[in-house]
Amino acid sequence: MTRPIIIDTDPGQDDALAILLALASPELAVLGITCVAGNVPLDKTTINARKVCELAGRSDTRVFAGASGPLSRTLVTAEYVHGKSGLDGYELPDPVMPLQEQAGVDFIVETVMNAPAQTITLCALGPLTNLGLALQAEPRLGERLQEIVLMGGGLFEGGNTTPAAEFNIYVDPEAADMVMHCGAPVTMIPLDLTHQTLTSDAIIEAFRSMPNQTGPASAGLLDFFERFDVEKYGSQGGPLHDPNVIAFLLQPELYGGRVINVEIETASALTRGMTVADWWGVTDRVKNVNYLRHVDVDGYWALLQERLATLR
Ligand code: RIB
Ligand code: CA
Repeated sequence: MTRPIIIDTDPGQDDALAILLALASPELAVLGITCVAGNVPLDKTTINARKVCELAGRSDTRVFAGASGPLSRTLVTAEYVHGKSGLDGYELPDPVMPLQEQAGVDFIVETVMNAPAQTITLCALGPLTNLGLALQAEPRLGERLQEIVLMGGGLFEGGNTTPAAEFNIYVDPEAADMVMHCGAPVTMIPLDLTHQTLTSDAIIEAFRSMPNQTGPASAGLLDFFERFDVEKYGSQGGPLHDPNVIAFLLQPELYGGRVINVEIETASALTRGMTVADWWGVTDRVKNVNYLRHVDVDGYWALLQERLATLR
């Protein structure tokens, strides 16, 4: 039985590997990819998502344009990490496959509301604006979803965009706040976890030596992606954030965490976008999030390499 998913994304090199992992995994049925402004503006994320689908030999995948900016904030992008194109590091040809006519937010609402209840999982890899707009359009959406699995937030690792906030949540904290209280089961994969899944020379060389195009392309993307974190944090490699969302669906036994309360700071300028995660249970606030903190790092890389090696 395949698991139907919608991927909401702002590619981004790490988003790209998450999309490749999903398209390489027969356990998952990618109903559509909805793009959002985040790492780079929307016109680039819609191009990048299609480039990645064509790299995977999956030009049949439906790709939609979503929001070009946050619900109420000014868009903040991250070219300093991902490069001007958002996919710097490996030259992929301009896409031939079309962008779908339908608006991405309408696709999310129509697909989820027309499917049997609790059968579709939404995998959020970028700012949560599209999901916020979908919830505004259809408040029942949350209860209709099987699960929302999102990369975002952080507690023990602090933030990567401000000292308090991780990028995906920082860009659109109002949308994130809506998601935390939308009625769907929410699994959050924060920096506390993704800062453990660091690239390394050996990992990147394993991709580069794959006898296909996907492997070397992934290696090129990772070479570029990791340089920011290595230079900024002096880390051994770059944290490959987004593929953890898909890996969690494929092998949940690789992950561990707690169901806790998470609230989003939307009022303070200083701590805008902070995920106030009650890991130690010091409040009696509702436990609304499955907050993952632990990952079998070797298992993660083994899964990613095994699956990407099956692509062309
Ligand atoms: O903070 C990391 C997250 O922000 C990742 O999803 C990355 O792609 C960017 O969207
Ligand atoms: Ca992303």
